[in-house]
Amino acid sequence: MPSTPTDASATPGPPDDTKRSYKIRRGRMGITRQVALDNLAERYAVPEGEDLLDLAALFGAEVPVVLEIGFGMGASTLAMAEADPGTGVIASDVHTPGVAGLLLGLDERGLDNVRVLEADGRQFLHQRIPSGSLAGVRVYFPDPWPKPRHHKRRLVGPDFAALVADRLAPGGLLHCATDWEPYAEQMLAVLSAEPGLVVETAGIDTRPDWRPITGFEARGLRLGHRVTDLLARRPV
Ligand SMILES: C[S@@+](CC[C@H](N)C(=O)[O-])C[C@H]1O[C@@H](n2cnc3c(N)ncnc32)[C@H](O)[C@@H]1O
Repeated sequence: MPSTPTDASATPGPPDDTKRSYKIRRGRMGITRQVALDNLAERYAVPEGEDLLDLAALFGAEVPVVLEIGFGMGASTLAMAEADPGTGVIASDVHTPGVAGLLLGLDERGLDNVRVLEADGRQFLHQRIPSGSLAGVRVYFPDPWPKPRHHKRRLVGPDFAALVADRLAPGGLLHCATDWEPYAEQMLAVLSAEPGLVVETAGIDTRPDWRPITGFEARGLRLGHRVTDLLARRPV
């Protein structure tokens, strides 16, 4: 989909940094992952900057682009990118060992349709993604923040829904999945209340076959959790 840079400051204000949706984790990295960071980041990293990104320059004109927020160790990101080489993926996470793992996986598979962002994907969406430009946003198993005092840290809230609705192109799709049922209920309420989105699917065991089971999801399934997929579209 073509992207026309517009003024990103026009819609929802910047995310509140005191309500970070992630924990700061200090993972230890082996030498292979460290080398991946040193050598592959230049090839696969999203260009740094503060301005709006030119998505056509990143992936080519007319290439639909999706943003994934929180890819974890990146296994499902790799599988989806390999299965759909005609889509450009910007994959974001803040966890450095996972970033290194995704870089290694991209190199091993020779994929060229993924760019990796080691930063807060919500902040990036606000600051660097033009209005009306994305074909999709993927949020798979965001941290559930189960304690009530932490609910404000959940990624999928009203401001996030409004931000996504603005950055999606007409017809673009927000796809969320969670194995935490109270969060699934919150997601459904939030997405249903967002006037810029229409919920198309929301239910337990409705995983579309093009979304592979993620690493975090596999763990939840082993624990007997039930998984909800929610798909909400920006109307054409
Ligand atoms: C529970 S894990 C799920 C990972 C993966 N999607 C999966 O299903 O295996 C959530 C991930 O989201 C990342 N995350 C949380 N908030 C984020 C944000 N605002 N931007 C980027 N990554 C974020 C965390 O670092 C973590 O790796």
